[in-house]
Amino acid sequence: MTAKFITLEGMDGAGKSTHIPTIIEMLKAHGREVVSTREPGGTPLGERLRELLLHEAMHAETETLLMFAARREHIANVIVPALARGAYVLSDRFTDATFAYQSGAKGVPADKIEILEQWVQEGLQPDLTLLFDVPVEVSIARLAGARSPDKFERESVDFFTKIRNAYLERASKNPQRFRVIDASKSLEEVAEMVKYIIATI
Ligand code: TYD
Repeated sequence: MTAKFITLEGMDGAGKSTHIPTIIEMLKAHGREVVSTREPGGTPLGERLRELLLHEAMHAETETLLMFAARREHIANVIVPALARGAYVLSDRFTDATFAYQSGAKGVPADKIEILEQWVQEGLQPDLTLLFDVPVEVSIARLAGARSPDKFERESVDFFTKIRNAYLERASKNPQRFRVIDASKSLEEVAEMVKYIIATI
């Protein structure tokens, strides 16, 4: 198993978080430490920024800058130290989400995000990204049944369509890193696909 830094991506309602315990179990079966974390968040300061990001209205570029501020803390204090001691890192979202949400859906120019990516990540990229892909109607229907929505989850069909398209475009441009999972299938079928991918990395 060579992939050490694994990220999970997808629209709200795609169901990615449900599969985290299974992935952790499988990685632990290789006898390694697993650090399971999330963005925005993953550090005390990052979690405080998450509160602001998920609930306060703000300019899309302010949002982008705060995402990367939280990410800087996360990389320096959690991700790089964990990788350095040989742990696996599993992050529920990372920079692909910024390209999908802040650029794809909210129109922040991708080249501005690329500048922040280079600055903050200094070449760090996930080894493997699982993209949980669902049609927009499925995502919205799942969210309708969920707990009280955050700022992002209250957006329109058009917003979610742009996110989905941005994610799929990133996946097709980086096929060696991405695995796209059809997350509209049943929970059991999606779990099987996740297991298969993790077993074969
Ligand atoms: P999410 O990961 O879906 O957590 P939960 O399941 O608790 O709602 O919520 C994080 C939200 O933040 C999600 O709507 C996507 C958004 N987000 C961005 O807009 N840009 C980013 O760079 C990241 C990491 C997340």
